[in-house]
Amino acid sequence: MALHKVCKVGDVPEGGCFRAEVDGMPALAVFHVDQGYFVMNDTCSHGEASLSEGEIEDGQVECPWHNARFCIKTGEALTFPAVEPQKVYRIKLVDDDIMVEE
Ligand code: FES
Repeated sequence: MALHKVCKVGDVPEGGCFRAEVDGMPALAVFHVDQGYFVMNDTCSHGEASLSEGEIEDGQVECPWHNARFCIKTGEALTFPAVEPQKVYRIKLVDDDIMVEE
């Protein structure tokens, strides 16, 4: 298991999302919501949409293409048409760097 630097905490707007490119990993969506920072794969499990472009509300992100909603914390697909969860990552804050384990 390796630790990868994803971005700085300052890159992620409060209540928003930052799309991160990390060598050797799929594109990542980094969320900053009331409960903290969370990271999941950016590409929707239903298609090719970028979830970092989705609406964020109540700890959920809504896919901009077909409006499936995912739990930001767990990656669970909450509404159709998505049925597969998003992969989420365990994060670690090191100073002001957001790191993920993979
Ligand atoms: S691509 Fe996300 S719901 Fe279809």
